[in-house]
Amino acid sequence: MNLGFMGKYAVEIKTQDKNDAHHISLYSKMLDKVPQIREKGKSMSVIEIGCGRGGGCYVMKNYFDICDITAVDLSSANIKLASKFVPDVEFISCDAIEFTTEKKFDIVLNLESSHRYSSRLSFFKKAALMMKEDACFLFGDMIRKTELEEVEKMFTQSGLKIIEVETINEGVVNSIEKNSRKQYPLATRFPFLFPRRIHSFFVTIHSQAYKRLKSKDVLYNLYLLKKL
Ligand SMILES: C[S@@+](CC[C@H](N)C(=O)[O-])C[C@H]1O[C@@H](n2cnc3c(N)ncnc32)[C@H](O)[C@@H]1O
Repeated sequence: MNLGFMGKYAVEIKTQDKNDAHHISLYSKMLDKVPQIREKGKSMSVIEIGCGRGGGCYVMKNYFDICDITAVDLSSANIKLASKFVPDVEFISCDAIEFTTEKKFDIVLNLESSHRYSSRLSFFKKAALMMKEDACFLFGDMIRKTELEEVEKMFTQSGLKIIEVETINEGVVNSIEKNSRKQYPLATRFPFLFPRRIHSFFVTIHSQAYKRLKSKDVLYNLYLLKKL
């Protein structure tokens, strides 16, 4: 799952989803960048790359009425769980860089996954190929400040232009602070009892990722991109 967002953006969370409100808010915040998604979501086709266990597909179906969803993740275990969690989605287990499809989509979605790929540039080029002429590419991830210029240059090299960019560190940091205490109370209160890799894996307030997001050495950016 993603790090979540707790901030100014507000979405009405269904009662059964209250525990995942921060994850749902991050996805919704991103999806809301697509013009008219609330009115026209039902007729839109979406591909999500790096879909994890299907949380984003659940949000698209249950909060945006999107029916035509394809979702890809490297982890076959994640894909297996996602298929059970969200029915009527075409789930595919594949590396983001290897994946190809003939189909063109209205929205290509990629959240908090690309920092693990062997090449962001190759991925952006693939993403552009999957887009219809007027499609939106929603891209959100953690990017080192020192790499920001290079990453944004890769958009242009891939035939993409930035329509909107938003840095949401505060909302993500807030989410980690609230949820680290709630979900991992022992690791939060007694950090020295747990090895660093545990803090990194769960992204507690004692992890490097949290510290870098808080200091803004790493930016959590959400982009709306279109074809050049
Ligand atoms: C932090 S999770 C985020 C999942 C989901 N996007 C979300 O926001 O809840 C990162 C996901 O990226 C996937 N991933 C990592 N490397 C990948 C790759 N090379 N190709 C496709 N998916 C990959 C992981 O399996 C994992 O499910």
